[in-house]
Amino acid sequence: MLWNQVKQQIAATTLISAALSMAWRSHGRSNSELVAALQRNGVFQGERVHDAMLAVDRADFCPTNPYLDAPQTIGYNATISAPHMHAAALELLLPKLNNGSHVLDIGSGSGYLTTCLAKMVGHDGVVVGIEHIPQLVNLSIANVQKNHSELLDGGQLKIIEGDGRLGYPSEAPYQAIHVGAAAESVPQKLIDQLAIGGRMILPVNANGSRNGQRYVQVDKISDSEVQTKDLMGVIYVPLTSVEHQIGRRN
Ligand SMILES: *[C@@H]1O[C@H](CO)[C@@H](O)[C@H](O)[C@H]1NC(C)=O
Ligand SMILES: *[C@@H]1O[C@H](CO)[C@@H](O)[C@H](O)[C@H]1NC(C)=O
Ligand SMILES: *[C@@H]1O[C@H](CO)[C@@H](O)[C@H](O)[C@H]1NC(C)=O
Ligand SMILES: *[C@@H]1O[C@H](CO)[C@@H](O)[C@H](O)[C@H]1NC(C)=O
Ligand SMILES: *[C@@H]1O[C@H](CO)[C@@H](O)[C@H](O)[C@H]1NC(C)=O
Repeated sequence: MLWNQVKQQIAATTLISAALSMAWRSHGRSNSELVAALQRNGVFQGERVHDAMLAVDRADFCPTNPYLDAPQTIGYNATISAPHMHAAALELLLPKLNNGSHVLDIGSGSGYLTTCLAKMVGHDGVVVGIEHIPQLVNLSIANVQKNHSELLDGGQLKIIEGDGRLGYPSEAPYQAIHVGAAAESVPQKLIDQLAIGGRMILPVNANGSRNGQRYVQVDKISDSEVQTKDLMGVIYVPLTSVEHQIGRRN
């Protein structure tokens, strides 16, 4: 039912959103089958997204149905997004993910996308995952340590407990920012931390309605100018406080 709503909301205005209408079928029996299915369905085009997703086994981050193209719950009222949304996010950010890039991943949850991003920025790059649920910070670090501890040891990947709405100024400016939860509007603090020429992608609650969530791309042209592109309809959990998410402060 949810899937049909999502599919109906997808406007075929870009290659990615067109590909995504097929993407819910991108299942596999293994990580390599899943990645091959996403590629076959056109969710990403080139080698770099392919190689990153192939190198990071989703099973390390997703305890249930890791190769099913659907979101899964990971506890604390948090989810890991469907694989096609991760692939689409990597494809959208791809031009900004170069050796040495600084990247911010807000609401890093399981740590899966953060790890893929870290694979794409090389030894000189830095990817910071911000997660506000302390147990998820620890869980995601343990997930990364299963097969990618070198990313943590080398400083290429950091997962930090914090309020994503504030960003993380000490590694700014960022060439790319991914936000994994829906805000009411594009947070100014995150625009401020974006590099000129940088790109942020995020779900925004259009008109305060969950059904009106839009996936938006924000390109920073200059200190005073951004270019915003409405990509498609999506459904994400809200970007909110710890109290809101789990009903208590830890
Ligand atoms: C990053 O550096 C590696 C190793 O030096 C190189 O193979 C790769 O092509 C570079 N990638 C980009 C996007 O520049
Ligand atoms: C997370 O891990 C750190 C270091 O191992 C530990 O001190 C802390 O209590 C853990 N936090 C939670 C919420 O499990
Ligand atoms: C990843 O880590 C898990 C847990 O340590 C291990 O069972 C698995 O074999 C590892 N996968 C690869 C590809 O090394
Ligand atoms: C939000 O509502 C206004 C007024 O009803 C409408 O003009 C606008 O298109 C809506 N925005 C989106 C993104 O749906
Ligand atoms: C999820 O949120 C609800 C409502 O805030 C809360 O009652 C519940 O305890 C939360 N679940 C977890 C696992 O934190």
